[in-house]
Amino acid sequence: MLNTEEIRKDFPILKRKINGHPLVYLDNGATSQKPIQVINSIVDYYENHNANVHRGVHTLSAEATEMYEEARKKVAKFINAEPEEIIFTKNASEALNLVAYTYGDSFISQGDSIATSIMEHHSGFIPWQVLAKKKNATLEVMNVTKEGEIPESEYSKISKSKLTSIVHASNVLGTINPVKEFAKLAHENEGVILVDGSQSVPHLPVDVKDLDCDFFAFTGHKMLGPTGIGVLYGKKELLEKMPPFLYGGEMVVDAKVEGCKWNEIPHKFEAGTPNMAGTIGLGAAIDYLNNLGMENVRAHEVELLSHATKALLEIEGLELYGPKDPTQRTGVLTFNIPGLSSIDLSSFMDEYGFAIRSGFHCAQPVHEALGILPSARISFYIYNTKEEIDALIPKIKEVRKAMS
Ligand code: ALA
Repeated sequence: MLNTEEIRKDFPILKRKINGHPLVYLDNGATSQKPIQVINSIVDYYENHNANVHRGVHTLSAEATEMYEEARKKVAKFINAEPEEIIFTKNASEALNLVAYTYGDSFISQGDSIATSIMEHHSGFIPWQVLAKKKNATLEVMNVTKEGEIPESEYSKISKSKLTSIVHASNVLGTINPVKEFAKLAHENEGVILVDGSQSVPHLPVDVKDLDCDFFAFTGHKMLGPTGIGVLYGKKELLEKMPPFLYGGEMVVDAKVEGCKWNEIPHKFEAGTPNMAGTIGLGAAIDYLNNLGMENVRAHEVELLSHATKALLEIEGLELYGPKDPTQRTGVLTFNIPGLSSIDLSSFMDEYGFAIRSGFHCAQPVHEALGILPSARISFYIYNTKEEIDALIPKIKEVRKAMS
């Protein structure tokens, strides 16, 4: 179990007051807060080691390169991949787009199908919509039940597709999709599968070899790391046959007027000066999570989910979306209260120091498919407590009463 009292001491921002109230940060699905260990790792990099990586023989450049590549090894180990299968991007959106612009552009042709689901974040939906239009391919969109799960009757959309792009855990419904099963299905039918793990890697142990996905994308800032650093995992044999995404320095080993020879993976996909400080900060975030143990991170979240689900459902009329079983979802709880707009709720809650999210959460299609209005969302992380939930619920009730 996590010792939240100790953990909270590592997060300077949690000492802040918002409108005179202690901050209760429940918008972790959007971004997590950062522990002092991550902040210090970035300061240390800039104060003591800053230089461009892979480009110099001087001491600082060698140190920066070593730190950068060390971070890649930590990321690889964290998801059970090989370091050369880890590409640093600026965020998960860029990682997903990278696959669309390289693998998709090279291997999807007219008449092919691409499968995705209606519960995708816009980053995992729009690249495929655009690619399908460009290639004259078909976009097969798997629907969800009103409980927020993809029914088996939709799985044939994976079997018939050359590429499936699917979210591991929905940022609206919390649903954890059976991606291992989806990967098996895709491979039996000679397809490949890309998993968007933005909402799973921060919260669950993830093993890409066990899932057997071909690509896996996630972002650093939702898992205690800084913004501006994302990750794409790709199976070596696939990355090797894909063309580069962006062109420039570092991704090329021989640049001649007649043509160029691309660098080896992963550098082939990392054109330009990368976000060195970001990768080092992400490495520190991984150290922090490893120290806690991802099994414990998950257990803490399930406990908060059980507590909050029960309490929220006691609010009269509240509609909670996604699976009700906390073991089937990650720590996001999205809801609406009839007669109370999510934006009003979130603004009122802010007056009391609660940070909760409202709107479509960059996932408008799932709202439309389920016929729901922009929604309110609370999302947890390692520093949240049952006491915070116990303080939240009466305030929601109070706002509801004042607004009705
Ligand atoms: N994708 C982020 C969220 O769900 C921004 O809030």
